[in-house]
Amino acid sequence: MDAKVNPPARKMKGQSISRAEYARRRRQLMRMAGEDAALLVASAPQRMRNADAAWPYRQDSDFHYLTGYPEPEAVLALLPGRSVAESVLFCRERDPQRERMDGPRLGTEGAVETCGVDDAFPIEDIDDILPGMLEGRARVYCQFGQEPEFDARLLAWMRRLRALRGGGVVPKDFLSLGYLLHDMRLFKSRAELSLMRRCAAVSVNAHRAAMACTRPGVAEFEVEAELLRVMRAQGAVSAYMPSVAGGVNACTMHYNANQSRLRDGDLLLIDAGAEVECYATDITRTFPVNGRFTRDQRALYDVVLTAQQAAIEQVRPGQPFSAAHEAAVEVIAEGLKTLKLLNGSLASILANASYKRFFPHKTGHWLGLDVHDVGDYRIDGEPRMLEPGMVVTVEPGVYIPADDQDVDPRWRGIGIRIEDDVVTTRDGVEVLTDAVPREAGAIEDMLSEARKGA
Ligand code: GLY
Ligand code: MN
Ligand code: MN
Repeated sequence: MDAKVNPPARKMKGQSISRAEYARRRRQLMRMAGEDAALLVASAPQRMRNADAAWPYRQDSDFHYLTGYPEPEAVLALLPGRSVAESVLFCRERDPQRERMDGPRLGTEGAVETCGVDDAFPIEDIDDILPGMLEGRARVYCQFGQEPEFDARLLAWMRRLRALRGGGVVPKDFLSLGYLLHDMRLFKSRAELSLMRRCAAVSVNAHRAAMACTRPGVAEFEVEAELLRVMRAQGAVSAYMPSVAGGVNACTMHYNANQSRLRDGDLLLIDAGAEVECYATDITRTFPVNGRFTRDQRALYDVVLTAQQAAIEQVRPGQPFSAAHEAAVEVIAEGLKTLKLLNGSLASILANASYKRFFPHKTGHWLGLDVHDVGDYRIDGEPRMLEPGMVVTVEPGVYIPADDQDVDPRWRGIGIRIEDDVVTTRDGVEVLTDAVPREAGAIEDMLSEARKGA
């Protein structure tokens, strides 16, 4: 890199995932693919927001997992071999003119040095070089159906390969890269877990700050601004658009308009999480705008909290992934029956799934580089067993539609979700996001302290 370029506060080399770990991942993937295979992984394109205004660049998660390379316009070719396995990166060359406009690039030499790949070539040369590298390989693993431009290029490389010196041997099978790679991504390494802890700590700070600035009359977007301020002040970005949903807005599961003013007597549901070095956190808290739950809000809140506790109990090695949801469903069904929001026996509520009227989503998902991370939830039709290193969210919720004429008006328009991020460990769990208060009493105490300090 040019010595005169200002280094980022965290340089690539100082990042949490070491060059050696990226190399280990590539080797493991090549071993699984077999020596007669090739694997191709493309970087994410730079996406435009409108006209010539780009979205902030976010690397493709698979590509990041295997390289740590942070730029667009790159393709990683993994070429397992009998004697030597090779990883080759096609990427942008240094270009002083372009760098003057858009900032520094690693270039081919920088990519070899930074990412530890065996070789790097200019991306402009890929059509000439890559088909020959694929010749004679039986299988190609790649992502298809994701980026139409990459799919088209892949077909063009096969045409070129066929046209090589008297007809090259085109690979017979094209397989989904995710089949091998996504199972690897499901198991977080020690370095990934410490990065996820760091990301969780940033997100915890953001949630606590957002809770502290909440008052009747404040706009949802002002609370959103506080979340983003705290994330950015710690060098993170938002992993997804925060949902800051006051009152009835919380009944819209993916609400993110964040335009309303918060009202005295309402609850506020915040679903927000930071992203640090491409790893995500996903937290939801629901708390009273004025600092104190009403009796009805508290009754419903405690049902969701108890459901979450029961679900977290089920996150253990050897337990099926689905056990947390089943535990949450049972507690919520029972709670809604006790509060007379549902009629009939517990058995009938569970059998006919009438609880879905108020709890319409699942209790969690894998978490990692993607918020809804990759990895199969079922294997051969059976729920997957949890193993150490897997990270899940646990996020039961209850949402009573404002226009539901069949429930007592006092419940209408209340939406509650509590979401934490949980690592399956050898002997149980580690809750990464514990430091945002969850118990109703602890929430009220924290809000009251914050108001005193204001
Ligand atoms: N924040 C998205 C989710 O909870 O799944
Ligand atoms: Mn979630
Ligand atoms: Mn969430």
